[in-house]
Amino acid sequence: MSDLKELRQLYSEQGLSQSGVEANPFAQFNIWFDQACASDTAEANGMCLSTVSADGKPSQRTVLMKGYDEKGFVFYTNHDSRKGNQIRNNTSVSALFPWLALHRQIIIEGEVSRVDDETSLAYFHSRPRGSQIGAWASKQSHRLASRAVLEEQIKEVEARFEGQSIPLPEFWGGYRIVPKRFEFWQGRNHRIHDRIIYQWLASELVWQTERLSP
Ligand SMILES: Cc1cc2nc3c(=O)[nH]c(=O)nc-3n(C[C@H](O)[C@H](O)[C@H](O)COP(=O)(O)O)c2cc1C
Repeated sequence: MSDLKELRQLYSEQGLSQSGVEANPFAQFNIWFDQACASDTAEANGMCLSTVSADGKPSQRTVLMKGYDEKGFVFYTNHDSRKGNQIRNNTSVSALFPWLALHRQIIIEGEVSRVDDETSLAYFHSRPRGSQIGAWASKQSHRLASRAVLEEQIKEVEARFEGQSIPLPEFWGGYRIVPKRFEFWQGRNHRIHDRIIYQWLASELVWQTERLSP
């Protein structure tokens, strides 16, 4: 196995340039994501998701990115959670991958929409049974009187579905962020960092890159 400390050093020396990055930001994401997974970065697929309330107030939380391709970045959650309610009112979101050990971050901005039920069901059933029960039992983001109440709800759900396959809750599923903007940030010495952004030019159907001041 390679020395990860050395690897990190190498990255910060490597830098980012408009001519050196991939023309397609998903391909660039792929390269960096593979490197994050191969490093000692914890939960490389954890992203900080920002949403905005109906009255324009932002909030954020970590969610796990459970799939990505050229269509976008998928995560799963409760549709009636705080974030789910905010998304219902405003589909503009931002997500940030904080790969601090690599001196890197990627920020994506775009519009979010629900994935189809088959995709959500397939993912739901790929989760451990305990997590499926947890999704049913937890009214995510709603006030809970005590942990004992939650444990009671879990017991009820276990009893309800005993010996059966657990159905997809109608209040739970996936969302796909379709990015319109990416930023790749690479830390460099003396705070002279590299920032390359990609913006989707809908009129020309191309991604345009620009370098931003650090
Ligand atoms: C490492 C990590 C991974 C998480 N992954 C998810 C996730 O994939 N989906 C989810 O709904 N919540 C996830 N959470 C919990 C959320 O951060 C958050 O507490 C929850 O979704 C409720 O957020 P909300 O009240 O803003 O809707 C994760 C938390 C952490 C720290």
